[in-house]
Amino acid sequence: MQIKEILSLSPSNQNLVIKGWVRTKRVSANVAFIALNDGSTIHNIQGVVSDGAVSEETLKLVTTGACIAMTGTLIPSQGQGQSVELQVNSIEVYGVADPEKYPLQPKKHSLEFLREIAHLRPRTNTFSAILRVRHALAYAVHTYFNQNQFFYLHTPIITGSDAEGAGEMFRVTTLPATNPPLTEDGKVDYKEDFFGKETNLTVSGQLEGELGAMALSKVYTFGPTFRAENSNTTRHLAEFWMIEPEVAFNELEDNMNLAEDFTKFCIKYALEHCADDIAFLEKRLLDEEKTKKKEEQSELSLTEKLRFVTENDFERITYTEAINILLQSKTHKQGKFQYPVEWGIDLQSEHERWLVEKHFKKPVILTNYPKDIKAFYMKLDEDGKTVRAMDVLFPGIGEIIGGSQREDDYEKLLQRTKDVGIEEESIWWYLETRKFGSAPHAGFGLGFERLVLFVTGMSNIRDVIPFPRTPKTAEF
Ligand code: 4AD
Ligand code: MG
Repeated sequence: MQIKEILSLSPSNQNLVIKGWVRTKRVSANVAFIALNDGSTIHNIQGVVSDGAVSEETLKLVTTGACIAMTGTLIPSQGQGQSVELQVNSIEVYGVADPEKYPLQPKKHSLEFLREIAHLRPRTNTFSAILRVRHALAYAVHTYFNQNQFFYLHTPIITGSDAEGAGEMFRVTTLPATNPPLTEDGKVDYKEDFFGKETNLTVSGQLEGELGAMALSKVYTFGPTFRAENSNTTRHLAEFWMIEPEVAFNELEDNMNLAEDFTKFCIKYALEHCADDIAFLEKRLLDEEKTKKKEEQSELSLTEKLRFVTENDFERITYTEAINILLQSKTHKQGKFQYPVEWGIDLQSEHERWLVEKHFKKPVILTNYPKDIKAFYMKLDEDGKTVRAMDVLFPGIGEIIGGSQREDDYEKLLQRTKDVGIEEESIWWYLETRKFGSAPHAGFGLGFERLVLFVTGMSNIRDVIPFPRTPKTAEF
C-alpha cells in the first residue's frame, strides 16, 4: 500500500510495510520520529520508533534522503498534524544517503539551486506536488478530448517542413559532423542523409493534424515540440509539450469556444483532483508573495485565481481593438511601455500583460491579427489585411494558446506559401488537402508547460517540466 492510501485508513493495529524516502528524523528522549514520503501524496507518514525497537546501527542509517522500509502497526496518532502513525517494529535500509553529501537538507532551498540538482528535486515537496499536478493535467487533456469524440493522432517528431515558418529548428541528421558529403556547389548533400532529405525536429504537429481532421473530423495531438529559439525567458523552453486540437467544420468562433471550454475543464479537473497539492502550492506562493513589495503582491490566492478563470467568460476582442485600447492607455501616453504601440506590431509581452492584468483583469482572446505577423496557413479575412488568428492570453503567463481558422482555399494558400518563401515541394501534401475535399477547419496549440505554470502558480517554466531544455542546458 502506498502512503496516500494508508493515511486514509482508520487505524486498527494493521500490520503494514511502508516504503519510501526519509524526509526527516527527529530523536527525542528515547523515541525517534521518522517522516517518510513515497511520492504518492504531499503528506508524509510518521513512523514512531520506541527505545530498543530497532538497533542503534540501523537507526543511524536512517537519515534525510535514505530509502527504507518500515514494518509495524498502524495506530491513531498521539501527536498533532496526522491522524495515523506507524508504531515501528523493524526497519530495512535499502539505500543510505550520506548526510555530509546529500544535497537536499530539510530546509528551504532556492529554485535556482534545485534546477542544478534536477535529478533529486522530485524528492522535494514543491516538485513532487508540481509533478503530480502535471500528471493530472495531462490526464485531464485526454479525458476532455475523449469525452468530446476527438481522436488522439500521433504526428511525427521528425519532419521535413517548418510549420510555423520561423526557422527555429533543430536539425536531425546522421551525416558526419566533419567532412560531410558535399554537392557539386559545395553544400552539404542531404540526399546522402538518412532520410534522403533535410529533416528536423518538429515545431508543431499541426500540419499533420490537419490531414487527420480532413478524415476523422476531430483530432488532437499531444506531444513534444522543439524550438531552437535563443530566448532565455521564464516562458520559453527549447523542448516543450503542445496540445493541438484540429476540427473540421469549425470556424474562428467555434475555435474560441473550444479553447475556452477546454482550458476551463483542465483547470477544474486539477482543482478537483489535486486539492492537497494545490493547497501546498498556494501556501508556498503566499510565502513568496510576502517577500514582494505591497503593490506587486497578488490580490488573489492561487485557488481564487484558478476559480476566477473557470467561473468567468474570457474577454474577446480583435487585435485592432486591442491596439486602440493600448494607444488610449495612461501607460502608453506616459511613455511607460518599453516597446512602441502601433497597428501592425507584434504585441510584446508587456502589452499582453497590461491588457490581461491591468485592463480586463481576466483571460483575453485576441483575434484577427495582421497577416504579416502570423503564420502562412491562417485564413485571410475579407479585408485582405488580417487573418482569422486567435491568441489566448492568461494573467501572469501571457500567451498560453495560439491558433486560427485555416486557409482552406487552394489558390490563396498557395499564394501565401509563395509570399513567405515556402517551397511548394516541401509541403505539396499539405496543399493537396485543399485540392481534394477541402473544408473549413480550425485548431490551436496549447503550451502544456504554460498551463502547468498557471495551475501551480510557479513563475519559471523550467520548474514545471521534470528536465528542462533551454539554451546551454541539457544536463539531465
Ligand atoms: O503560437 P504557437 O507557435 O502556435 C503553433 O505552434 C500552432 N501550430 C498551433 C496550432 O494552431 N495548432 O504555439 C502554441 C503555444 C503557444 O501559445 C505557447 O503556449 C506554446 O505553444 N509555446 C511554447 N511554450 C514553451 N516554450 C516555447 N518556446 C513555446 N513556444 C510556444
Ligand atoms: Mg503564438
